Amino acid sequence: MVEDLEKESDMSINSKLKIAIDGPAGSGKSTVAREVARQLNIVYLDTGAMYRAITLKLLRAHCDLSDHSQVEALLEQTVLQLASDERIFLDGEDVTAEIRKPQVNAAVSRVAELPVVRRKLVRQQQEIAAAAGGIVMEGRDIASTVMPDAPFKFYLDATLPVRARRRMQEQREKGLPLSYEKVFHEIKERDRIDSERADSPLTVTPGVQVIDTTSLTIAEVVERILQEINPQTD
Ligand code: DC
Repeated sequence: MVEDLEKESDMSINSKLKIAIDGPAGSGKSTVAREVARQLNIVYLDTGAMYRAITLKLLRAHCDLSDHSQVEALLEQTVLQLASDERIFLDGEDVTAEIRKPQVNAAVSRVAELPVVRRKLVRQQQEIAAAAGGIVMEGRDIASTVMPDAPFKFYLDATLPVRARRRMQEQREKGLPLSYEKVFHEIKERDRIDSERADSPLTVTPGVQVIDTTSLTIAEVVERILQEINPQTD
């Protein structure tokens, strides 16, 4: 895997900041993490995009997910490239839009529960964190597994109906009009698989600050996170 995520602020104090943001789908973590990284001028990494790109690869190859050696062989031939503008390349192809499509949404939790996939991506995420200096990384297992030593760890949550409404709105803005019921059930099922899997499930780990975003705006959540961090960046 090749990355292109270095930031010019490497000499600043922010270059040492490691911020983990976990939470379920629709909790607002991507928007919040992106904005926190922008304000601190550090790298932003959406680890879900990496699981999505691998899912696309396996779907295109018609891979049998129960055949772990086939999955492993495909992973070995896979090159993921992440650009600082959030584009993601799979074997040289820009798949930034493709990984958000319904067929990937429907399959990604099943791919993300495979230990062989998690091992590979967690290792790559840890390499990116080490190379980046300051980073806001968001996903499901960042505080528990990828960056357990990060000094700042947050878990964003919101009620299921609110998360479903947010996700539906996002999809509509991308020209994918899905019904509320469909989005609601898809998110519920993804939450279940993400939380029940054996390998690094979605969970609130000790030492993580939980923020309920149900009735907060994005700006309010960002503000809360920056307030936690600021005493150390003054
Ligand atoms: O955040 P997202 O919806 O793009 O995540 C896509 C899927 O990948 C979701 O089912 C959970 C999984 N995932 C994970 O298991 N671990 C991560 N660090 C990030 C995402």
